[in-house]
Amino acid sequence: MTKFVGVLTAGGDTPGLNAALRGLGKAAIDGYGMQIIGFYEGFRGLMQNRTIRLDGSNLSGILTRGGTILGTSRDKPNNMPMGGQFLDMTDTMVENYNRHHLDVLVCIGGGGTHKSAAKLMKKGINVVTIPKTIDNDLFGTDHSIGFDTALGIATDAVDRLHSTAHSHHRIIVVEIMGHNTGWLALGAGIAGGADVILIPEIPYEAQSIAEAILDRSRGGKRFSIVAVSEGAMNRKDREEFNQISEDLAQAKKSSEKEKVEARMLAFRQNQATSTIRLAQELEQLTGLESRVTILGYVQRGGTPSAYDRLLATRLGTAAVEMINKEMYGVMVAARGEGIEPVELSSIVGKRNVVPQDHPWIRSARNVGTNLGD
Ligand code: F6P
Repeated sequence: MTKFVGVLTAGGDTPGLNAALRGLGKAAIDGYGMQIIGFYEGFRGLMQNRTIRLDGSNLSGILTRGGTILGTSRDKPNNMPMGGQFLDMTDTMVENYNRHHLDVLVCIGGGGTHKSAAKLMKKGINVVTIPKTIDNDLFGTDHSIGFDTALGIATDAVDRLHSTAHSHHRIIVVEIMGHNTGWLALGAGIAGGADVILIPEIPYEAQSIAEAILDRSRGGKRFSIVAVSEGAMNRKDREEFNQISEDLAQAKKSSEKEKVEARMLAFRQNQATSTIRLAQELEQLTGLESRVTILGYVQRGGTPSAYDRLLATRLGTAAVEMINKEMYGVMVAARGEGIEPVELSSIVGKRNVVPQDHPWIRSARNVGTNLGD
């Protein structure tokens, strides 16, 4: 019996999504005679029934292309922005899934996408997920599509910042993406030889960083590169954040909820400029001129690395093998050299954070990198 497969890409885009679509599509059509349709812009396209039949014509020539030919969105099935309000549209999505007589929906995405896929699964939809995120924060897989490319881009930026920091005897504080985890900043910081690396998992003290920079100055090195993860916080802010999070959990159903949510919003808005404030603080504490570089979306753009193309092709084709065996409700996870199915229910809501004793942390400390603590 021919299997009918739907696929969508959701959440922030990453290089390698097209390689995954190509791997999935080619293996499904050529290897197993399945039929495959794509939904545009993540779960929004599934709700709106906006589709494209995937075949040899649109699946070829996309291996090396960044972004996603399907487009993406961060819209969630149960909280869909609809004309000024947020509505639960899961039932409409189930209807559209049935309209196309789909056997399975493949959702390629990060943490949010996995949560959404699990919600659809509870409504009776068969799902298979493929992990992608530049943040490397997905639980249950060793690797996710996009991280390697972003790591390469961020490392290249840290490399380039060295010469200009050196010429001007400046501190350059470079902000690297990663959401609430420090993998990208830690990896790029180590690979690029940053002098200071700040990650969300290790709250920092500006004074400790300033001392490390002054030590370098005394040793004749009058420039420093500080790689800071966008989610990194100083100790005081981390304590405040933990407190608001706790209050939020307690206020969930009470009349205080809105007030605590407003506190969190204000906190987050203030955090958006924390890298700039850190650079100013370091300038004051060290007397060295400092500059900020925010890498931003350049880390998510352009051609995927060879590693990500390979990973995406492995995951996409393995997903088809699982679909052929009707293994549903799983993430197609990369484990060592192999690929394994991991029950969605065992990973949803969990996050892969950098453990304090991770080998990367030990390596960074062993080469004398200051981690802000
Ligand atoms: O999850 C990927 C990521 O690029 C994070 O590193 C970053 O915090 C976030 O997405 C940015 O989100 P958006 O694309 O919604 O601006």
